[in-house]
Amino acid sequence: MTSYEPAHRDFLAVTGDTLICVQVAHPAGQVRAPGEANRFLQSRSIDALMIAADVTPADLPGFVAGLRGWGNLCGLSVTMPHKVAMARLVDELAPTAADAGTVNVVRRDPDGRLTGATFDGTGYVAGLRAQGHEVADRRVTVVGAGGVGRAVAFALARGGAARVNVVNRTRARGEELAADLADRTALADVHSVEVPAPDDDIVVNATSLGMDPSDPLPVDVGLLSPQTLVGEVVANPDVTPLLAAAEARGLAVHKGIQMMAPQFLEGARFMRLIP
Ligand SMILES: NC(=O)c1ccc[n+]([C@@H]2O[C@H](COP(=O)([O-])OP(=O)(O)OC[C@H]3O[C@@H](n4cnc5c(N)ncnc54)[C@H](OP(=O)(O)O)[C@@H]3O)[C@@H](O)[C@H]2O)c1
Repeated sequence: MTSYEPAHRDFLAVTGDTLICVQVAHPAGQVRAPGEANRFLQSRSIDALMIAADVTPADLPGFVAGLRGWGNLCGLSVTMPHKVAMARLVDELAPTAADAGTVNVVRRDPDGRLTGATFDGTGYVAGLRAQGHEVADRRVTVVGAGGVGRAVAFALARGGAARVNVVNRTRARGEELAADLADRTALADVHSVEVPAPDDDIVVNATSLGMDPSDPLPVDVGLLSPQTLVGEVVANPDVTPLLAAAEARGLAVHKGIQMMAPQFLEGARFMRLIP
């Protein structure tokens, strides 16, 4: 996890003018973003605070309706299980959210209007670049076609990848993503496939496989060339079984945690907390 100094916010300094950002989740006990976000906000001397709200799916529409009149609310961070539902509750979707069909950040404008965006994909690509891994002209396979898989695939296509292949357990969902990429981006070399290609430069696991130690590997790393970079979106554990298998084969790896820091920056910019 990226850390920002100083590590503790002075809660006595919170006033009625302090902007509030809410992370909405259910359950909320495991969320880590408020602590990280507050360290980030304080490190930049931004008078804003993130708190968590535990809201059930049934209560989400009423919760969102009430936000429009909350004057010092700058926005929401949205996490499981609300990312898809939120896309239907906001007034407007940024292009990233329309691509992914999910929302992970909501901005509340002064007139109460709510705009949803997702930075899962752009954050992923920014994280790759921050580690020196270029995306332009690379052949990529994205494994997973859920909300994060869609966001990552669109960001890779828009980031100049030469080819994007999609692998997904439910083949129809992978085919839909490949068709959407072909329709909505400039990329022509895009396919729904069964397994990553031996000439892939980058293979990204964008499924939830790897969170549970009993999960099967999402990719057979034996199929990949020694030059392939193997990336993860799963951030917990830090080194997933897939990354461990790739490292054991001598392949370069890119951890799921690397997509988080860019997302804080992009989310704060979207909420107009930083220029
Ligand atoms: N590092 C970060 O900052 C960050 C941020 C956001 C999310 N994430 C992680 O991203 C992951 C995906 O989230 P999401 O929102 O995209 O979830 P989602 O919309 O529910 O999609 C889940 C994806 O995983 C696949 N999948 C699930 N179980 C599988 C299995 N047993 N075998 C094969 N494929 C399986 C699904 O395939 P089907 O289509 O066949 O169901 C689908 O492609 C989660 O683990 C989440 O923790 C990380």
